[in-house]
Amino acid sequence: MEELYLKEIELKDENDIVDYINEFVRNGSVINGLSGATSCKNFQEMYKKLQEMKNLKFASYNQEKSPGLTYMLIRKGDNKLVGSFNLRFNLTKSLDDNFAGHIGYSIRPSERRKGYASQGLKMILNICRERGMKYVRIGCYTENIGSKKVIIKNGGKLIAHSESLISDDYYEIEL
Ligand SMILES: CC(C)(COP(=O)(O)OP(=O)(O)OC[C@H]1O[C@@H](n2cnc3c(N)ncnc32)[C@H](O)[C@@H]1OP(=O)(O)O)[C@@H](O)C(=O)NCCC(=O)NCCS
Repeated sequence: MEELYLKEIELKDENDIVDYINEFVRNGSVINGLSGATSCKNFQEMYKKLQEMKNLKFASYNQEKSPGLTYMLIRKGDNKLVGSFNLRFNLTKSLDDNFAGHIGYSIRPSERRKGYASQGLKMILNICRERGMKYVRIGCYTENIGSKKVIIKNGGKLIAHSESLISDDYYEIEL
């Protein structure tokens, strides 16, 4: 297995991030784990949004947003950006009710099915442990077999299922 590492997004990563996002667009793939980056006008706006998220204070379960960090998953051998992971430190009612959970992630289309998401989630869970978190929740559409396997391989247990708009599963991982 190739060695991977996580790093926070910096301003100098603009070209890599834009190239990464464009690959999803070209392939018609959904992108997760970039904290809603695709709704931003440009990289600068996205970067500002990530900094705001990082500096948010968590006051109560009923607040709208949770503080969190966004990581790039990089392959050590060639420093290629292969994936993105978004970690929210606290659950809010809105995240919980919508099965959004603590963690979102994507692997770029050309680098899928190499075990990268499984390995990346394992590293994110270690960060969660270091921060003293006791469990994480992750949502996943029932039809998303790849993501479901990634979660289960990392200890995920199904805690809820919804059929409201689209069939959706909610997992919890004890840390
Ligand atoms: C879901 C996703 C993150 C998986 O990334 P990945 O790096 O390909 O996952 P892994 O290589 O770690 O695969 C884990 C397992 O799932 C399997 N798998 C991966 N994609 C699959 C697919 N499309 N269909 C069936 N199985 C799949 C792998 O073969 C592997 O199985 P194994 O453990 O039996 O060997 C990636 O497809 C992606 O970015 N999708 C778009 C965004 C997304 O859905 N994010 C998750 C939101 S919950």
